[in-house]
Amino acid sequence: MKIENHPILGKKEEKKKVMIIFEGKTIEAEEGDPVAVALMNAGIRDFRLTRKKGEPRGVYCAIGRCTDCMMTINGRANVRTCITPVEEGMIVERGKLSREGKTK
Ligand code: FES
Repeated sequence: MKIENHPILGKKEEKKKVMIIFEGKTIEAEEGDPVAVALMNAGIRDFRLTRKKGEPRGVYCAIGRCTDCMMTINGRANVRTCITPVEEGMIVERGKLSREGKTK
């Protein structure tokens, strides 16, 4: 999904590979990429569920201005994954709402 060779920016620079844990599953990521990018590269699109209807939300603004990408990272809730860089061993989870929209 990443652009490997951009016509203006050139070739994508190689980054160190690290592992993060998403809800118990190990995902390979590139160090320093936003957590949202690592998750989307792993095919994960639904980052949280809306409080009222339990509808899935994913990356919307990608610049840290909305709240659609918020997840729990290393036990800290409501972290905007689109502006949080990946670090080795991060533990990433969806918010506290279950898929049925009820608080866990
Ligand atoms: S997608 Fe809007 S804050 Fe992350």
